[in-house]
Amino acid sequence: MAGKTVVIGGGSGFIGTALSNLLRHCGYDVVVVSRVPGAFNTTWSDLEHNGLPKNTTAVVSLAGQNILDFKRKWNSGFQQTVRASRINTTSSLARAIEEAEIKPNVFVSISGVGYYPPDPIKEYTEYSAGGKDDYFAELCTDWEQSAKLPAEVGVRQVTIRSGVVLGRRGGMIAQLYFPFFFGMGGPVGSGQQYLPWIHLHDIARLFLHAIENQQVEGVLNGVSPNPTTSKEFARAFGSSLWRPALIPLPEFVCNILLGPERARMLTQGQKVIPKRTLESGFVYKYPDIRSACREFSPLIYTDDLDRENISR
Ligand SMILES: NC(=O)c1ccc[n+]([C@@H]2O[C@H](COP(=O)([O-])OP(=O)(O)OC[C@H]3O[C@@H](n4cnc5c(N)ncnc54)[C@H](OP(=O)(O)O)[C@@H]3O)[C@@H](O)[C@H]2O)c1
Repeated sequence: MAGKTVVIGGGSGFIGTALSNLLRHCGYDVVVVSRVPGAFNTTWSDLEHNGLPKNTTAVVSLAGQNILDFKRKWNSGFQQTVRASRINTTSSLARAIEEAEIKPNVFVSISGVGYYPPDPIKEYTEYSAGGKDDYFAELCTDWEQSAKLPAEVGVRQVTIRSGVVLGRRGGMIAQLYFPFFFGMGGPVGSGQQYLPWIHLHDIARLFLHAIENQQVEGVLNGVSPNPTTSKEFARAFGSSLWRPALIPLPEFVCNILLGPERARMLTQGQKVIPKRTLESGFVYKYPDIRSACREFSPLIYTDDLDRENISR
């Protein structure tokens, strides 16, 4: 294994840090492509000028401006940033692969379940049509397209359509921890809408599964196999903190805070099934919301759960 390098665009973030830890634990070298130069980083312009490092066995695309940043107004400028931060970075990685003399084995890129239009009943698998129905469906379609390599390049490709990633130190759990801890948490709106989710360790393990298994190809839904509503999530998270989680966040408040279009990510949902993911042989460590949320209990505090505990 020594000497095998995985290049991760956006590897400095929430998912990227967990994936880097897991890959290093499994004997890989990791090079992060970032906007910021650093000891284990390369920048996007270095990548453009110097190409992929020697011994690159896999390339992963994870960069993207945080969409649910409450401090940023949902205007056309911010929408452009959200789009460019995903599509330009993913295209740069694809270009670097095309130009590499010695090709990596695999290119794994992330996308979102926003690819599927929100619907209260419909079940979506990887085989379902997504599309161009709204801003997020169009964003995901174009994002996935930007990762596509011509067949003659001969590199295996995997796209992971991720649900909300639940981890102790980032993403949605970090944002909700204190409201729930102080007993002010609850479902969003009616709470009946689905909230496709996956535990941080499982999404990192799913990337590793895609990197290491030659037979894995195409789209995999990165969501838990047990669909969960917003109300079920709130109950499970509340009970892991011994809190009631009864106070709903009204839809109109979400609309005011995020703008109605962006708020749909929380107020409406999709029932997403990881059919191909399961068929590919992936085994979840956290298949249900109770087992995932149990980890966020203050009693299970370890020095750095995400850093030390993550394993195959
Ligand atoms: N977290 C989730 O629940 C979730 C769910 C579905 C899909 N995803 C997608 O998965 C990817 C990784 O998620 P994450 O939660 O790990 O994200 P994150 O921590 O917010 O950010 C990932 C990295 O993207 C880079 N980045 C941020 N803004 C950028 C910009 N304007 N231009 C270029 N690069 C930028 C940053 O790297 P540098 O600062 O080092 O440049 C950052 O470390 C994202 O594309 C996200 O949309 C996440």
